[in-house]
Amino acid sequence: MSIGITGASGQLGRAVATRLLGVVDAADVVLMTRTVESLSDFAARGVSVRPVDFGDRGSLAPAFEGVDSLLLISTDRVGDRVAGHVAAIEAAKAAGVRHVVYTSVPNPVPANPALAAPDHLATEDALRSSGMAWTSLRNNLYADMQLASLQQAVEAGRLVVNSGDGRAAYVSRADCAAAAVGALTGGGRTNTAYDITGPRALSAYDLADLAGSTVEVVQLDDGAYVEALVGSGLPEGAARFVASFGRAVREGYLADVTTAVRDLTGRPPTSLEDLVRSVDS
Ligand SMILES: NC(=O)c1ccc[n+]([C@@H]2O[C@H](COP(=O)([O-])OP(=O)(O)OC[C@H]3O[C@@H](n4cnc5c(N)ncnc54)[C@H](OP(=O)(O)O)[C@@H]3O)[C@@H](O)[C@H]2O)c1
Repeated sequence: MSIGITGASGQLGRAVATRLLGVVDAADVVLMTRTVESLSDFAARGVSVRPVDFGDRGSLAPAFEGVDSLLLISTDRVGDRVAGHVAAIEAAKAAGVRHVVYTSVPNPVPANPALAAPDHLATEDALRSSGMAWTSLRNNLYADMQLASLQQAVEAGRLVVNSGDGRAAYVSRADCAAAAVGALTGGGRTNTAYDITGPRALSAYDLADLAGSTVEVVQLDDGAYVEALVGSGLPEGAARFVASFGRAVREGYLADVTTAVRDLTGRPPTSLEDLVRSVDS
């Protein structure tokens, strides 16, 4: 069975590819990326590396040829990616792909204020109506991305947020990769959406405790938070994006904790505490 991964040179893509090669033959793996040369290390291991760019429709059919199970990694072009995702789904169907695994967000519903949610909602809809078997991996916020915020909080003695008392079930990128490998190799159910989460949901106050007792939590409203982020050097669009996730946390859209990582991988997810410790040690 041939397993394909789009976006294979990204951080998640590389992690999935590396883990996949531990359980299937290199000859059964097809990695797809806009930058084929960046995956020469995988090519040297006997993996087929093919060019794919969702914005270049002509690249899709040759890339998907012979692939049975496809991991479609959502692109980082928030607000401008649905057409590319849908084109990839249509091309996968035409090429005979049987199962598509897609990386989404928790609660991709119209009311979710996270600015990434509408793209995922539209892509999941397209996948569900494609006629192919599908799996949605609704990855919670990457725990890895909290490490830099925690470091900054320690340095500043303040953790500035707009998330109120809300909690997020931060999950490591490595666990997201392991869950994807489980889904691609038949370890899960198809036509199912999994909430991929860490072992517990943490509030900003839990994060501050993790960072150290001298870190004070500063709560801002959404507008003030965007201003603060812009003031610290973030472009306004990125600041609005981050603040939208803070609001989604505050409103409970990222708080559910599930057994999905264990169900798909056979082992429990890594906690943010353990991730922090592994970086410190
Ligand atoms: N859960 C979270 O906290 C979180 C955080 C950030 C992002 N995400 C989402 O999860 C995805 C994977 O995360 P990551 O950490 O691997 O992000 P990343 O390292 O920034 O990777 C970005 C990905 O987008 C792909 N991409 C961009 N434009 C593309 C195009 N035109 N056609 C096909 N692929 C394209 C890249 O593929 P190539 O460069 O190989 O072509 C790459 O896989 C992100 O793209 C984003 O949708 C989730």
